[in-house]
Amino acid sequence: MCYNTKYSDINLSQGQVLVVSIRFGPGAERYEVPIIMEMNETKKVVLSGIQPSGTLTLGNYLGALRNWVKVQDEYLCYYMLADLHAITVRQVPADLRQNCFKTAAIYLAAGIDPNKSTLFLQSMVPAHSQLGWVLDCYAMMGELNRMTQFKDKSARHADNINGGLYTYPVLMAADILLYQADLVPVGNDQLQHLELTRDIATRFNHAYSDTFKIPKGLTSETGARIMSLSDPTKKMSKSETGDGTIFMLDSKDVVIRKIRKAVTDSDGEVRYAEGKYGINNLMSIYSAVTGKTFEEIESEFAGKGYGDFKSAVGEAVADELAVLQNEYQHYMSDKAYINQILIEGAEKASYVARKTLSKVYRKVGFYDPAK
Ligand code: TYM
Repeated sequence: MCYNTKYSDINLSQGQVLVVSIRFGPGAERYEVPIIMEMNETKKVVLSGIQPSGTLTLGNYLGALRNWVKVQDEYLCYYMLADLHAITVRQVPADLRQNCFKTAAIYLAAGIDPNKSTLFLQSMVPAHSQLGWVLDCYAMMGELNRMTQFKDKSARHADNINGGLYTYPVLMAADILLYQADLVPVGNDQLQHLELTRDIATRFNHAYSDTFKIPKGLTSETGARIMSLSDPTKKMSKSETGDGTIFMLDSKDVVIRKIRKAVTDSDGEVRYAEGKYGINNLMSIYSAVTGKTFEEIESEFAGKGYGDFKSAVGEAVADELAVLQNEYQHYMSDKAYINQILIEGAEKASYVARKTLSKVYRKVGFYDPAK
């Protein structure tokens, strides 16, 4: 039997991969054959990821997720849940599973559109681990020893300084290079890993022939480094306990309370200046959320105290998060939809990743009996 299906209403942009499943057999669900169509690539490629190791923070949102949403129309985007990375620190299995699901819901709630971007779980695409191993053999111990995140995390998890924690930046390089990404939207803390990615890719390209595109980081002007509210000399992070971290699912009252308690100085003037770490941080947050420049913020709060400023920051952050939280509840109640997005995303990502991996396998000299 032959069906003539018109695909004119499917808006497949350049470079996007479309997976179509044809079902046939006596019961419509008996056989399913995925057919993958791909347009010639001309759009630039973006890849990024977040570890689903807990509730995402305001730092994850302003430093990464929000920027991912902004570039979806212009670029061909791959956004993953970096669950392989998450197990470099001990996880409770049931919590990790649940956090993966919740983080997928947060991606969608923040505005990642699965019709534009490929959203997937890293562990569902084996090519990440496979390329990770090959690249381990092209990353030098000296380079890995210099990674500041490894040093920080080993200090925080002194009882579990495992090999994965050490080679984790190489897995990140594999994540990026598999998709031939041009741009990687991240916060400042990931730029050192990105530099290593570039070095590994260049080394591999020189050893063989051009295989990997050399990616660039994409950071936002404000929001690329959100600091802890209780110690504004340290990065805001998921693992901080206490009131220094705003979580994306914090209620309005909690957000306002945490910002009211934020550590500031005794100068009393809302202005961006060397050494005013707490105020600089709140100004960065306010600027990232409202789009106002530092000059505009300074004149808005000229002659007013920190109390007024903190209230405004609290309201602005809580309002922005409230929109997202509503959407989040909606996605959390539709497990089937999220599962379907993740299954389709993994199929699309695997298709692209396998192409790079087989090129790499051929170049390093692995024997393929099928060829
Ligand atoms: P992760 O999960 O620690 O953080 C995810 C993203 O959030 C950004 N970020 C911040 N930005 C500003 N201020 C903060 N306080 C803040 N905290 C976190 C991070 O810079 C990051 O962009 N290794 C990565 C995940 C990853 C990845 C990749 C990223 C795995 N593979 C490939 C890009 C490309 C990580 O642990 O991010």
